[in-house]
Amino acid sequence: MKAKNCLIFGGSGQIGTHLIRKLTKNNYKVTVVTRNLHQKSYRIKTQANAGYIDIVEANIFDEKIIRELFSNAEICINLIGILFENKKGNTFKNIHSLFPSILAKLTREYNLKQFIHISALGINEATDSNYAISKLEGENNILKNFPAATILRPSIVYSVDDNFTTNFMTLLSNLPFFPLYYYGKTKFMPIHCSDLVDIIYHVLSKNISSNIIECVGPETITFEDVLKRLLKLIDKKRILIPFPLFVANLSAKLFELLPKPILTQDQLRLLKYDNILSGKYKSNFQLGIPSKRFFDEEVKKYCYMWKEGGQYSTDKYSKN
Ligand SMILES: NC(=O)c1ccc[n+]([C@@H]2O[C@H](COP(=O)([O-])OP(=O)(O)OC[C@H]3O[C@@H](n4cnc5c(N)ncnc54)[C@H](OP(=O)(O)O)[C@@H]3O)[C@@H](O)[C@H]2O)c1
Repeated sequence: MKAKNCLIFGGSGQIGTHLIRKLTKNNYKVTVVTRNLHQKSYRIKTQANAGYIDIVEANIFDEKIIRELFSNAEICINLIGILFENKKGNTFKNIHSLFPSILAKLTREYNLKQFIHISALGINEATDSNYAISKLEGENNILKNFPAATILRPSIVYSVDDNFTTNFMTLLSNLPFFPLYYYGKTKFMPIHCSDLVDIIYHVLSKNISSNIIECVGPETITFEDVLKRLLKLIDKKRILIPFPLFVANLSAKLFELLPKPILTQDQLRLLKYDNILSGKYKSNFQLGIPSKRFFDEEVKKYCYMWKEGGQYSTDKYSKN
């Protein structure tokens, strides 16, 4: 069977690298677009066997290059997303609203078979977050220009390559206390990256179209519980302190001065809303693609790096 050509934007990220591995193992050929070949190609190209992957360095708004890539593609997948804006044109509007709309128009113009876009859970509710507003606008632009697109809305995605559990474990290891925003009551349904990739693969291989799918893991966990579980996994004790909102805002303002802020004011606003199934759209469970991986079991596989003793704290060494 001839391999299908899949054009991937954002393939160097957490979800992208897992996805490349899954697709190329299953006879898809991928073309991955990155802004920086020098920095990212090593990570991207090790995810697939030679012959199944092409890597192209491009500015995603360079119409000539992007058109050329579309002329050879059958499927387009957009995984590009940012958590904070910067002054170099990386605005939520450009990345989450404008770019997906360009992709949707090109998908229609070049007659591609499928367009899959990764959005985010809870964006209808978080009406005061610029991140959520831009993601929602992006979805609307896509559906206007290519109604057959499939939009996946994941809750927080975790894995050894994430910016979530790994950052928290680093902060929990280094700080004597940790702030509980909104009293730690915000709920999440974290989904393991491999489960999300299985959903994307299912959508592709079963030709699912014209859907918004909410993608969640099997458990609902509060922010406080996430921190407590991580502390237990790394075998550390820390004080979790509820932060009054004005202190939280002040700290976010200070973090925003860093080139890669660990928390922005916009993220703080987003954190106010539960990140769980809305009931308005189909979930991966309803579509017969349940998530199978549980938070503690998965994080246990890589959390030893934050434990006293590092790899020597794992079962295989303690049994000797
Ligand atoms: N991770 C989560 O918990 C989560 C939850 C809900 C939704 N999502 C969404 O899922 C998608 C993928 O997430 P991820 O965790 O895999 O993200 P990630 O690891 O941060 O990767 C993001 C990708 O976007 C590309 N990118 C970032 N800014 C760009 C820009 N200005 N121009 C061009 N490319 C840019 C990067 O590519 P290069 O650096 O190679 O150019 C990178 O490959 C995003 O849309 C995100 O919003 C993620």
